[in-house]
Order: sequence, then structure tokens, then C-alpha cells
Amino acid sequence: MEHFSVIQTLCRIGLEGTDPRFRKQVERLRDRLRTGGDEKAAAALDRLLAGVSSEHSLTPSAVEVSRLLVTGDELTANIHPPADRETSVPLAEVILDPGAGRPAPIYSETLTMALDAMLGEWKQVTTLREMGVEPSRSCLIYGPPGTGKTLTAFWLAAQLRLPVINARIDGLVSSFLGTTARNIANLFTFANRYRCMLVLDEFDALAKMRDDPHEVGEIKRVVNTLLQNLDARAGTGLTVAITNHDALLDPAVWRRFENHIRIDLPDERTRFAMLNAFLRPLDVDEDVVRTLVFIVGARSGSFLKNFADALKRILALSRSDVSGTAILAAAKALVPRLSIDENQTSAASMFVNDEATFVGALLHSGMPIRQASVAKMLGVSQSTISRYAQDYAAREAPREGVANA
Ligand SMILES: Nc1ncnc2c1ncn2[C@@H]1O[C@H](COP(=O)(O)OP(=O)(O)OP(=O)(O)O)[C@@H](O)[C@H]1O
Ligand SMILES: [Mg+2]
Repeated sequence: MEHFSVIQTLCRIGLEGTDPRFRKQVERLRDRLRTGGDEKAAAALDRLLAGVSSEHSLTPSAVEVSRLLVTGDELTANIHPPADRETSVPLAEVILDPGAGRPAPIYSETLTMALDAMLGEWKQVTTLREMGVEPSRSCLIYGPPGTGKTLTAFWLAAQLRLPVINARIDGLVSSFLGTTARNIANLFTFANRYRCMLVLDEFDALAKMRDDPHEVGEIKRVVNTLLQNLDARAGTGLTVAITNHDALLDPAVWRRFENHIRIDLPDERTRFAMLNAFLRPLDVDEDVVRTLVFIVGARSGSFLKNFADALKRILALSRSDVSGTAILAAAKALVPRLSIDENQTSAASMFVNDEATFVGALLHSGMPIRQASVAKMLGVSQSTISRYAQDYAAREAPREGVANA
């Protein structure tokens, strides 16, 4: 079965949760694979289902696990975070159930492995201590906007059943001299008292402050306070910081974090998995999803979510059958609205302005798309599609030859 390794990873991650509906769906998938004659894949899911359930019954619950990692008083709905003294704005937000209402993130295989390894350490504190080593307790997540960094921090906390104290650094930066450092100190004192994951989002705010010549004295004080507080927290709390601009971070701050997780724009496979998930409950043909992946190009998860939602809105209002043709027509209407066609050679631009070249490029993109599917979704004959592909190859091959010479 195509992409089974990704499906397997998704099942494994999902089964680590406790939602019985997820388990039921994995069992359904296993049964369908078995009925369809794919015994190897069905047996792999059998192993996952058995492994996870026995692990659940043998190992301590996620709450017990996280108690070994992080100690402190329990946070409750009545506990309020400290506020900025001048503006009375709270310095952080307390989120008791960070998994609630948030989708499970979708990652590339490499990223899944990196996060699984880190979570594995955090969940097996006793094993680490038997080796005389303490678990790492800090992580810096960095990468371009909209790639799921904040979502990941919350997901990590949800995996450990830990509440989150979420501080946006831009909210801590005060225009009053000396107040920013005090805010940071107050925030850490609060976080150190409770069993939680401290999330420091929008770390860039500090870097931006450094660019301001009027702030030189203040930023030194702020960075020092931050370093002291990170050091003091290192042996006890769990801290996740997030930034878009890792290059702007003070090297001393960067070094304080034991794990550095880079979340890049998703690769083609991950974009495919994301669009499939975001288009639900629509059951869209795989070749149609691949075509959409090609049209939007290298975009963030946040962009893809927005794109999928916009598509669903158009389809819902058109009340027509949700066919591949209707989905592509909706995508065509969206291209100018979502400014995807920023240059004339982009796939999105070709899709709107030059169908023949678009089809040629799509069929030569390396994605496993069948000509018959393209003909069906664009409403033209298969011989036309075949001609588009040949014309494209005849046009592009000499150019590629020149480029390669
Ligand atoms: N890897 C992903 N898996 C699933 N959904 C994603 C992913 N990345 C982004 N999204 C979608 O985009 C939304 C925004 O993601 P998020 O806020 O975590 O991005 P971010 O990297 O923190 O962005 P920013 O740098 O702008 O703060 C999510 O709520 C989700 O709907
Ligand atoms: Mg964010």
C-alpha cells in the first residue's frame, strides 16, 4: 500500500493517545487491508495495536511519567499568572489541557523521529537515571512562520499530560526601563512553582529589541536575567522556546537549550498528508490531492490549512457534487485570492493561465499522477493530455540538455 510507512507512523502516534475512536479506526483500516489481501500491512497494524495496548497496561500512565520529569504544585483554573505592574496585562496564559481543540500535527518522517526520540527520553526518566543521567529539559523550536511550531510545543505538553504556561515574549517586553527584566523574573518564579511546561513563544522579540540602539543597556540586563532564570530552571522545569529567526538569537541563549528542533516548510509527502487531513471530511482522490500539492508549491502547514478551508467553503456554497473537476475549479478561483501565483513561472500561475504547460509540468514533476486522472479532473480527453505531455517534453528536454551541458 502506498505511503504505508507514513500511515503506520500516524497510527503509532495516534495510538499513544487514549481516544478509543482512534483505536477503532485503526482496527477498521487493518480489517480493510486484510480483506483487500494486504496481509503484510494488516499484520503490521496488528503489531501496533497489540504493542500499544500492552505498553499502556505495563507502563505507568502519562501523568505518572511526567511527575518523574517535572514536579511542583498542581495548576488549577483558579491560579492566575503574574501581570505587568504598569499595564496589568498578564505575563502568560495558563492552558490546563493543551491538547484540547488542537489538531494533531503532521510531520515529515525525519521530524517525527526527532520528536519521538526527545519524547522518549522525557517519558523514560527512570531508565535514564539508572544510567546516571538526567533527562534533557529544554528545547528550542525554530523555523519559518506557520510551520506548526506553537502547535508542536502544545502537542509535546499534551503527550506528557502537562499543563502549559504560555508566555509571549513580546508581551513581556515593556517600554518601561527595568520592567522587562522584572517581568521575566516574575514569570520564571511563577512557572518554577508549578508542574507545567513553560512555553516561551515569539522569542524574536528579544532579538528585535537588540537592534534598537536606545535599548543597549536594557537588552543586556534582559538577556542576563533570562540566562540566569534559564540556568536556575534547567534542573527542574521543562522549557520550550520558539522562534522564527534563530540567527538573531543571542548565542548564549541558544546554548542554554539542550534540544534544537528545526521545523521547515513541509516536503512534498508531508504536504500531501496535510492536505488530505485538512480536506476531511471530503474523501478526495489521491491524484487530485497531488495536483493541489503541485499547484500550491512549497508552503507552510498554516497556508495549506487556510487553502483547504477556503476550498471547502467554495465547495459547500456551490452545492455541486464534490468531484475532482469541482475541486480544481474551486482551486482556480482561489489562486488569485490567496496570492499563490507570485511569479509567472509558478505552478499556480501556469494552472490559471496556461493549462497545457501546467499539465506538462505536472506530469513531469516526478509525482505518481496518472494521465487518466488529469484528463478526468480537467474535463479534457486523455489524448489531449498525452499531447500536452509530449509537447512539454519536446520543449523542455532541449532546454534541460543545455542546462546540463
Ligand atoms: N505540521 C503541521 N501539522 C498540522 N497542522 C499544521 C502544521 N503546521 C501548521 N499547521 C496549521 O497551521 C496552524 C498554525 O500553526 P502554528 O501557529 O503552530 O505555526 P507557527 O510555526 O507557530 O507559526 P508562527 O511562526 O507564525 O507563530 C495550526 O493551527 C495548524 O492548523
Ligand atoms: Mg507560533
